[in-house]
Amino acid sequence: MGLVIGITSLIYTELLVDELRQREYDQIDFFAKVQAKLATMGTEDNADVTFLLMEVIKGNDLIPVVLTDDKGEPISSKNIELPSDLNYVQRMDYLKKEVQEMKKNYAPIKIDFTDGEEQYIYYADSKLVRNLRFAPMIQLSVLAILALAAYLVFSTSRRAEQNQVWAGLAKETAHQLGTPISSLVAWIEYFKTDEDFDQSIIEELQKDITRLEMITARFSNIGSEPVLKPANLESSVRGAVEYMSKRISAKVSMNVHYNLEGQADINISLPLFEWVVENLCRNAVDAMNGVGRLDITMELTQHKTSVTIDVKDTGKGIPKNKLNKVFNPGYTTKKRGWGLGLTLVKRIVEDYHKGKIIVLESIPGEGTTFRITMPIIV
Ligand SMILES: Nc1ncnc2c1ncn2[C@@H]1O[C@H](COP(=O)(O)OP(=O)(O)OP(=O)(O)O)[C@@H](O)[C@H]1O
Ligand SMILES: [Mg+2]
Repeated sequence: MGLVIGITSLIYTELLVDELRQREYDQIDFFAKVQAKLATMGTEDNADVTFLLMEVIKGNDLIPVVLTDDKGEPISSKNIELPSDLNYVQRMDYLKKEVQEMKKNYAPIKIDFTDGEEQYIYYADSKLVRNLRFAPMIQLSVLAILALAAYLVFSTSRRAEQNQVWAGLAKETAHQLGTPISSLVAWIEYFKTDEDFDQSIIEELQKDITRLEMITARFSNIGSEPVLKPANLESSVRGAVEYMSKRISAKVSMNVHYNLEGQADINISLPLFEWVVENLCRNAVDAMNGVGRLDITMELTQHKTSVTIDVKDTGKGIPKNKLNKVFNPGYTTKKRGWGLGLTLVKRIVEDYHKGKIIVLESIPGEGTTFRITMPIIV
């Protein structure tokens, strides 16, 4: 729509400019004829007509013109703004330069005097024509700015709405899980007192409940502004890896490398951070089809203000043209995938923890490394 208006206005202005130009040309042409006529008239015998014609010439207060002799030497000019501090020679030079410029766009109009003398009128587009040419650009820019503003308002309000739905759902899920979990906890307490009940089952049940509680904590954390607390990086990562290692194929070796001297504390929401590590590990294991090597390496960055956590696998890799898609919600290559894991990871790392996550390297057939960068508490 904006484009149609823009193009129409461009064409219309172009037509207007052309028409105005033609009129200006006619005017100059007329001046030329008047000038030639004037030269043949004796001022004394036809003073009135001469005066009238002079007025016509003076009446041009728009079109810049320079009158020159047949050698291109300026005789007079009109509607050209000459800098006031120029002497005669400088003024002539200035006008000559103007003439050179004018020549590039329009051929001069020749005045033939009866005595064989020739003069030339050089001219350029009037200010009106020049300004009019910019009108469609200005219109187009205004339209573009308006369109951009409308788009920004629309997309941010839509994003805010999506975020609200997302967060609302997560919080509600956490809330609803709360009741059956506390009831399960009560049941376990009851079974503990029952001597006939196999106590080893209770242990297993307890583990499942702990897991359920953690899931609830994750949903509840992601549903509201999470509280970040200082936590030890190494033990947080090792905790998540240990949990994962029990649940993946034995043919995947998981190795944690902590290459920092001393402890590094980072401000995190532990349930969310573990979720990140788990998601990355699960993706890595999926990419390796259950056989391979997974390395998690923690290192200080050059300026010692952040740490990098690299999750490196020996899986199938990500094709180059898909690299910028993996964080998009819904992008998945798996039969049972949702394509939400990495979206969530990115949101947790970047929105909630002010960290950064990138695909550091991915070579099809060889493997992939994801890199998280997190600020440390100094
Ligand atoms: N380590 C990896 N190696 C190769 N491809 C990967 C890796 N991690 C992610 N991908 C690709 O990115 C896609 C998106 O990953 P993401 O975790 O967002 O979704 P998903 O694992 O498919 O589904 P889910 O929502 O269950 O996590 C994957 O389907 C996979 O194609
Ligand atoms: Mg995933």
